[in-house]
Order: sequence, then C-alpha cells, then structure tokens
Amino acid sequence: MSTTKITVNNNGSLKVEGEFIIVDANGNEYGLQGRTTLGLCRCGLSGNKPFCDGSHRDGFENLSTAFDLPPKKV
Ligand code: FES
Repeated sequence: MSTTKITVNNNGSLKVEGEFIIVDANGNEYGLQGRTTLGLCRCGLSGNKPFCDGSHRDGFENLSTAFDLPPKKV
C-alpha cells in the first residue's frame, strides 16, 4: 500500500503527494488530470476551493508544528 503524504505548509496550503482521489460531499470525484501533487486550501480564501490558488498570500498566517493528538476514544 502506497503512502499519501500531506504537508501542512506554513502560512499556506495542505500539499498532498502520492496516490489519492478527492471527492465532493456527494462522492463525485474531482478530475485531477493525472496530478500526483497538489495543494488544498486551508485558509478559506481560494476562489477555486478545495484547491489552493495562492490567495493565502493575502494575509493567512499559521505556522505548522506537528503534535500528537489525544488518544482515540473507543
Ligand atoms: S491555502 Fe492557498 S488559497 Fe487557501
């Protein structure tokens, strides 16, 4: 099984690399035209959601630092 890597970019997008599909709320797949790397918007400013269009440069600030989530509830 291949690993999909998601990088939380400082002050910007979620960079997705690897093998993945992206679907909308109805389960319909976005046509990625063979892309294996792309940016998903996490700032809310993109005019092309869910994809990053660079609008985060207009003032989105959030530095990413990895941390551990609390234990999963069972
Ligand atoms: S993260 Fe790039 S436009 Fe939102």
